[in-house]
Amino acid sequence: AVNMAEEAKKLAAYSAVDNNVQNNQVVGVGSGSTIVYAVDRLAERVRQEKLNIVCVPTSFQARQLILQHGLVLSDLERHPELDVAIDGADEVDAELTLIKGGGGCLTQEKIVAGNSKCFVVIADYRKDSRALGEQWKKGVPIEVIPMAYVPVSRVIAKRFGGEVNLRMAVSKAVKTRVRRRSRAFAAPFTLSVLSGLQGPVVTDNSNFILDWKFEHIQNWSEVNTAIKMIPGVVETGLFVNMAERAYFGMEDGSV
Ligand code: A5P
Repeated sequence: AVNMAEEAKKLAAYSAVDNNVQNNQVVGVGSGSTIVYAVDRLAERVRQEKLNIVCVPTSFQARQLILQHGLVLSDLERHPELDVAIDGADEVDAELTLIKGGGGCLTQEKIVAGNSKCFVVIADYRKDSRALGEQWKKGVPIEVIPMAYVPVSRVIAKRFGGEVNLRMAVSKAVKTRVRRRSRAFAAPFTLSVLSGLQGPVVTDNSNFILDWKFEHIQNWSEVNTAIKMIPGVVETGLFVNMAERAYFGMEDGSV
């Protein structure tokens, strides 16, 4: 199943790059695991077709990908207007409303996508959903100023329901320890206790991430605006009316 999903990511990424990137364009490069295939394909096309392409990254990871592939790196100061931005998503609904930020780069991703003439999403079949929350169970990521994480969590839970959690860093070592210990002790070991030792996830902007597990489907446009108005919120992982197209790699090998 993992190989099938990887193959699906690659299919989506390749067809998005082939159908949306042309010579002399400024291209926004998203973050995550699917975008890796898109950058592979972009670099291949740049070499083969001798394209003149400038890339604007959405994260430290994207910046590294661009550099590793020998592509031309730029930024929003030199290229404030992009022709196309390509990025993954955690979930895509029937209206092309997205949940993003599983990797914590939602703010830069939204800035880059928002300044692009065309925003294209690439994903495997597992992200294709009728309504948000059907597939992605971790909730909507929200980037917050560290000192505000408690009040913001409370306000969101009170106004919109559900549960809000501060995203904690869980290292592989801790996961192994949790498994080992819970086998050794009869008492159940909760992951949150141990993951607390690792401290909160810190974004590229030195902020924290809240994950809002909503209980029911909302008016995402209104909720997005309302959450953004809460003091301390930097950005939400809800991308409403931004994506123009989504490419899904399917289990049968089609896109
Ligand atoms: C990063 O912050 C996210 O928004 C990613 O774009 C999203 O999680 C997609 O990642 P994958 O391509 O790894 O699914």
